Amino acid sequence: MKKLEYKTTILEFNSVEELPENDKKLMDMAMEAVKNAYAPYSKFCVGAALLLENGIYVKGNNQENVAYPSGLCAERVAAFSASSQYPGVAILSIAITAKSDSFIVDKPISPCGSCRQVLAEYEHKQGKPIRIILSGAKGKVLVVEKVEDILPLSFKEDKLKN
Ligand code: THU
Repeated sequence: MKKLEYKTTILEFNSVEELPENDKKLMDMAMEAVKNAYAPYSKFCVGAALLLENGIYVKGNNQENVAYPSGLCAERVAAFSASSQYPGVAILSIAITAKSDSFIVDKPISPCGSCRQVLAEYEHKQGKPIRIILSGAKGKVLVVEKVEDILPLSFKEDKLKN
């Protein structure tokens, strides 16, 4: 038996104001995107903003549905929108934030497993890391350098062949 250890580096900032300029700009856009979330059921509004390699920003937010599983998270709305409008253009970074009607989201939110898998697909395809910036409506902000860091042992294309 061999023990394999996986190391992840996460940068923590005290607030959005402390972020490097590019990350702050992207987070400000994610905070804008929160305002257009359609979340009548959870009342938990999530915003995401992507910066593409061609300099274009793409925003997304969660879109819920009365048939709950038919809704989609902000990250996937943004990533699918980017890939459908700008196919083959690498995603450099994504900022994600959230706001609730009933409490103050004062801790960074973090993408669900399905969103991690979708972001991992693009990261793998483009061969360049996607930087992830995570915030609540206020408080500390986390930065992860690549999707692989938050989705070790991800399911990749090579697993479809032997
Ligand atoms: N949600 C996101 O949009 N992104 C996340 O990373 C976590 C959860 C959405 C899905 C649903 O509309 C609401 O937040 C509550 O789970």
